[in-house]
Amino acid sequence: MADKKVGLLIGRENTFPGPFLDKVNERGAAEGVSAELAVLGGTPEYEQPRHAVLVDRISHEVPYYRAHLKSVVLMGTVVINDPFWWEADEKFFECTLARKLDVAVPKTVVLPNKQYIPAIDHEHSLRNLQYPIDWERIVAYTGLPAVLKPNTGGGWKDVTVVDSIEHLMTAYDQSGLKTMILQEFIDWDDYVRCICIGRRDILPLRYNPRAPFEERYMISQPVEGALLKASIKQAGLLVDALGYDMDTVEFAVKGDVLYAIDFLNPAPDFDNFSIKETNFQWVLEKLSDLVISYATGAVQPPWRNDHRWWKFLQAPAAKA
Ligand SMILES: Nc1ncnc2c1ncn2[C@@H]1O[C@H](COP(=O)(O)OP(=O)(O)OP(=O)(O)O)[C@@H](O)[C@H]1O
Ligand SMILES: [Mg+2]
Repeated sequence: MADKKVGLLIGRENTFPGPFLDKVNERGAAEGVSAELAVLGGTPEYEQPRHAVLVDRISHEVPYYRAHLKSVVLMGTVVINDPFWWEADEKFFECTLARKLDVAVPKTVVLPNKQYIPAIDHEHSLRNLQYPIDWERIVAYTGLPAVLKPNTGGGWKDVTVVDSIEHLMTAYDQSGLKTMILQEFIDWDDYVRCICIGRRDILPLRYNPRAPFEERYMISQPVEGALLKASIKQAGLLVDALGYDMDTVEFAVKGDVLYAIDFLNPAPDFDNFSIKETNFQWVLEKLSDLVISYATGAVQPPWRNDHRWWKFLQAPAAKA
């Protein structure tokens, strides 16, 4: 049986990679699937890819990896997650998508940037931009307090809760070249983070963002009943629409409404010390089953055929 290789791309995490590779090797052996840490070092454009599947946990920080991933997708590799969509995706777009899907999100406004590269100036380059910004109107929509945060990003970087226009101005003035969103602050009474694998396996966990980092997943207080059901349904809908095979979806819960707060986490925290051992084992099992089914060809990724160029690859006659 031909060896079907699964490759893993990682950043600074240490607890997930070894056990994940071991799990795929153990469960995939019977079907000729093996797993390794991918090693990349300059990719020719038409090279036969080494990997049937690549699990990407870091291409948002390493642009060369992303260029490699886009190319090998064309050459037949299944990449988790779709590098094209991940690159295009933004928190503001996702808020609009959630509204369209009838999932509650805080009222959100995307803001013009504070700064631009030197060649861009207001008089010549920004004639489509209303200036000055009508902050009163924007804040009237979101209310105060509000959350100012980057349109793409993670790790709570540059996330600020502002309680006045003055405070908002101070935070916005520090946003530099980043595109920011301003979002209604949800004064939640419960909080759930769902680990989502393969768009169907959804694990809602009670999460306390106010606790120190390693104590945030509260496994002693499982999500149950109506909240469990609603979290699975809404997180499932979001990840299925987005096509992410690996993501976390966060909900701030107020009364019986689940507000989707952050669902752009395509390389979620899988460290065993934060998600805890039982959930860690769940991730290893679900993700290894998924990559094995992709590696053997038993299942096709959701994004296959999403782009116009797929048509030209599958039916060369269409070029004529
Ligand atoms: N609209 C909001 N209402 C209330 N709290 C919010 C809101 N937006 C963000 N927060 C709080 O700020 C935290 C960080 O925000 P967010 O998740 O959007 O940023 P992130 O950088 O993507 O974080 P992570 O690394 O956890 O994915 C959230 O976990 C939540 O506790
Ligand atoms: Mg995030």
